[in-house]
Parts: sequence; C-alpha cells; structure tokens
Amino acid sequence: MVYELEAEVVYNRPVSGITWEIKLKAEPIASSSLPGQFVMVETHKGDIKEYDPLNRRPFAVADTENGSVVIYYDVVGRGTKKLTFLRKGDKVHLLGPLGEGSFPIKENKKAIVVAGGIGASGVSLLVKRLKEKNIPTVVLYGARNREFLSMFDWYESVKGGTVEVVYYTDDGSFGKKGFPVQDLDKFIENPQEVVIYACGPKPLLRYLKDYSSKRGIETYLSLDRRMACGWGVCLGCVVKTVNGFERVCKEGPVFEAQHLLEF
Ligand SMILES: Cc1cc2nc3c(=O)[nH]c(=O)nc-3n(C[C@H](O)[C@H](O)[C@H](O)COP(=O)(O)OP(=O)(O)OC[C@H]3O[C@@H](n4cnc5c(N)ncnc54)[C@H](O)[C@@H]3O)c2cc1C
Ligand code: FES
Repeated sequence: MVYELEAEVVYNRPVSGITWEIKLKAEPIASSSLPGQFVMVETHKGDIKEYDPLNRRPFAVADTENGSVVIYYDVVGRGTKKLTFLRKGDKVHLLGPLGEGSFPIKENKKAIVVAGGIGASGVSLLVKRLKEKNIPTVVLYGARNREFLSMFDWYESVKGGTVEVVYYTDDGSFGKKGFPVQDLDKFIENPQEVVIYACGPKPLLRYLKDYSSKRGIETYLSLDRRMACGWGVCLGCVVKTVNGFERVCKEGPVFEAQHLLEF
C-alpha cells in the first residue's frame, strides 16, 4: 500500500560533507517500509509561490523509528538545497513507501552488503533488519574520503554482534585505502552460501553484476535513476532487463543482478 501524507519535520541537520539527515513523522509509511524502498519528497515548503522544483525527489528510507522515516541526502541541486531550509515543525508532502522491488532477506545465507557513498542510505534499513534476524553480515562501506562516509555514526551504532563493518576510502584518509569491492574474495568461502546486496554508483554496481555472474553468487542491486513521478506512470526511469524494459521506480529499485541487461 502506498500512502500520500503531510509529514512533520522532527529535525533536519547537516551530517558530514554535503550530506544532511532529515527525520519526518510519517506513519504509516515508516512502519510499512521494506529495506530498499524509497519515498518521493516534495522539496518546497508548500507555498504556491515556491512551487519549484515541481517534481518530488526520490530518497531511500534509510531508517525508521517510532513512526518516523529517516533520510540521508546529498545536497546536489535545487531540490536538495531547498530541503535544507526545512525546520523542526515544518510540514512536507511525502509519497511512499515506493518500489515493489525491495531487498529480500535470505535467512540461510551470509550477507555481504556493499555501500558506495550516499548509497549507504539505500542499504542501511536492510542492515538493521539483518541484525534483528541475527544473520551474519559484513558491510563494506566505501567513499571518496572520510568526510563522505556520511553515515559513519549510523553504521558504528549498528555494528557489533552479527554485523561487521569495514570502511574504505579512495584516498586512504580512513579505513582501508581503495574500493569496497577489492576484498570481496576474502569474505566469500562458498559462493552458494553468500548473498550480496549493494547500492552505490553505477560502476560499482556494474562491477558487482560481473563479479557475481562469474562466481554464481546471488546478488541484489539497488538502482538510482532520475525520477519524475516515482510511481510508474511517466516511464522516465526504465532499464533494460531480461523481461524487456522495466521501471526502476515500480519493478525496482532493487533488481537481481542477472535480471538486468543494461543499466
Ligand atoms: C530510488 C532512489 C533513491 C535515492 N535515494 C537517495 C538518498 O537516500 N540520498 C540521496 O542523497 N540521494 C538519493 N537519490 C538521488 C536523489 O533523488 C537525487 O540526488 C535528487 O533527486 C537530486 O535532486 P536535486 O533537485 O537536488 O537535483 P537537480 O537540481 O535535479 O540535479 C542536480 C544534479 O544531480 C543529478 N541528479 C538528479 N537526480 C539524480 C538521480 N536520481 N541520480 C543521479 N543523479 C541525479 C542531476 O543530473 C544534476 O547533475 C535516490 C534516487 C533514487 C532514484
Ligand atoms: S519515475 Fe515515472 S515511471 Fe518511474
């Protein structure tokens, strides 16, 4: 079920680098969101004179708590800049949870979660659910430098017990120097007993599609596309799959890697 509601801002604050974190009171969206699903957020404050940008913007449901949705967003353009103007108590229209393709939990497999940059917010709810189910999980979280490991505090708070987190930076300013996929082999003893989940830049996801295809590893990728409607009507977000063209906002955003032909 998809809900359209006016959500109240609990807080909206800068976190690190270009990333902000916003928490919105959004029941029943919060309690019904599955890992990998997203919401479309109206980025203006509702004043008719400020109806710009017109289209809502898509953001992953990074976390949910007490009837609220938490989003981590990079400030990259007009919409996300406007989001930073929201203050505690402001109201903003929200549509969600969206996307019929979410991350499936595999109870009998070790989970390897690859997060690239702000893609960390696309897999964080998944990591939380994996931990709740005591599923052994390795998170490989990479970014260009320490500042861009924007969800560092969140991942630190969830690590421990069945969840191991390994950090990577391109410049070596924190954690291991290099990319989060460089040590994959070390974490995989038997490809049949592992499932890979990932969200991040396209080159990272393409690498994982290739890597998992060669080794026969079940792999789920969360795709990012510019979205105008977010609920399947504009056809602006299609990718080529084994079933023909499919909509990232409707059939995705999570797809099994070998299901994808071009993205
Ligand atoms: C399912 C989904 C989940 C997402 N989750 C998150 C999230 O949790 N956190 C987050 O920071 N971002 C997320 N994004 C990306 C986010 O939606 C865009 O960054 C945002 O819409 C940009 O809006 P803007 O008005 O600030 O940028 P605009 O002014 O519209 O564009 C600014 C620049 O950003 C580029 N851009 C805009 N939209 C996208 C996009 N979807 N993908 C790649 N580049 C884009 C444009 O080409 C342009 O260069 C997600 C996207 C999708 C499809
Ligand atoms: S964004 Fe309109 S169909 Fe996907």
